Amino acid sequence: VKLTFKEKFSFMLFWSKMRVDEVGVETLGRLLAAYPWTQKLFESFGDLSSADDIMGNVKMKAHVKKMLDSFGKGIKHLNNFKDTFVVLSEMHCDKLRVDSEYFRILGCLLIIVLAYYFGKIFIPEIQAAFHKVVAGVANALAHRYP
Ligand code: HEM
Repeated sequence: VKLTFKEKFSFMLFWSKMRVDEVGVETLGRLLAAYPWTQKLFESFGDLSSADDIMGNVKMKAHVKKMLDSFGKGIKHLNNFKDTFVVLSEMHCDKLRVDSEYFRILGCLLIIVLAYYFGKIFIPEIQAAFHKVVAGVANALAHRYP
């Protein structure tokens, strides 16, 4: 992913300012709410049928932490996303059977949640920087799909 110095700076600043766990649960929760059939992937987590169940689910919180830790590690390697996410790409494809379309959707939902949390200070330039990063992560995660 190619970010200008300014984009990199504003991305990192925002990332460090946001409550990653809270934003993450909200984002994945919104995916499960808007695309309820994705709940099937997380059957072992228990009842996820309402937004409150999703947001309050302990296993979901732990999962989001894993997911965002790897996302956070990934963004330290902006120039080499493909290698960084290769194992996860294979795992989501072969083992978890997650449709790669959802990587892109999850990125868009993250941006929606950030706009909701930060309001006006989430200016278009910062949104554009986030957009580049989430698109890069989605591409890298889809890389090993046939
Ligand atoms: C598991 C990362 C998007 C479904 C995981 C794990 C990580 C991860 C690190 C744990 C791997 C392990 O335990 O070894 C990511 C990242 C994503 C992403 C960085 C995008 C930014 C998605 C999406 C879905 C999904 C969009 C589904 C709609 C799953 C499922 C598991 C999983 C079902 C296994 C959960 C379990 O049973 O413990 N993911 N993921 N992931 N992911 Fe993702």
